[in-house]
Amino acid sequence: MDVCERAKKIAAQLQKEAGMPRVGFILGSGWGGAAHLEEERAVAFSSLEGMPVCTVAGHAGNFLFGKEGGNSAVISQGRLHLYEGHAAATAVLPVAVLYELGVRTVVLTNAAGGIDPAMQPSELMLLRDHINLTGQNPLVGRAGSQIFADMTQLYDAELRQTVASACRALSIPCREGVYIQVTGPSYETPAEIRAFRAMGADAVGMSTAIEAVFARYLGMRVAGISCITNMAAGVSEGKLDHADVLAQSKRNSRAIGALVRELVRVL
Ligand code: HPA
Repeated sequence: MDVCERAKKIAAQLQKEAGMPRVGFILGSGWGGAAHLEEERAVAFSSLEGMPVCTVAGHAGNFLFGKEGGNSAVISQGRLHLYEGHAAATAVLPVAVLYELGVRTVVLTNAAGGIDPAMQPSELMLLRDHINLTGQNPLVGRAGSQIFADMTQLYDAELRQTVASACRALSIPCREGVYIQVTGPSYETPAEIRAFRAMGADAVGMSTAIEAVFARYLGMRVAGISCITNMAAGVSEGKLDHADVLAQSKRNSRAIGALVRELVRVL
């Protein structure tokens, strides 16, 4: 079944919890657990017919509904990754569900490895642009001329300013940069990271770019935020470990939770 048809069926099951969310979030590794809203209701992916479950540690697999400052929001706590075996057209299902619930502004978040040596773990990076190195595109196989979607200003400049000022207000260090999506699940080699740096990437991760492409195709405003959880392979000494990535996100969770709440208030 087409991902949009599938999303419609899932959104219909969520309708009675949903209200009218203005803004939606996809929260990645470590981000999901940090988010809490007023009047919060969680619906597990596993309770929804047609929704795959999350298989990755650090991804709860819930749609969370709630409010902040009178504004309604929906948060996908967790996402579907290519490395779990999902095709790109399936991995974008949470984005399509948010769209079907009425969301037209989406904030995509992730954990990422810092490639720019000036970065530091715990900083946030606002996505100015991305490189999709997965070799997959979620629009493959769809019909209609909208598939030739323009990507020149994928990450909304105004949204980026709003996120940057929210970070400033909360004293959360953040900078802008270019994100590169790989499929994973293995981490990169140092030679790959050197190549990505030469290509213009500042941070690397295993999600987000294909979701941003699909969100733009659907006509949504898109923001992307990476939490730098580690320096990428070879940028600093030491090995990479998913547990360390989660531990670093956890150390950031108070700041991340505050940022999500502030964005619901102002977006
Ligand atoms: N590489 C790829 N994905 C990641 C990393 C990394 O170093 N850190 C967090 N997600």
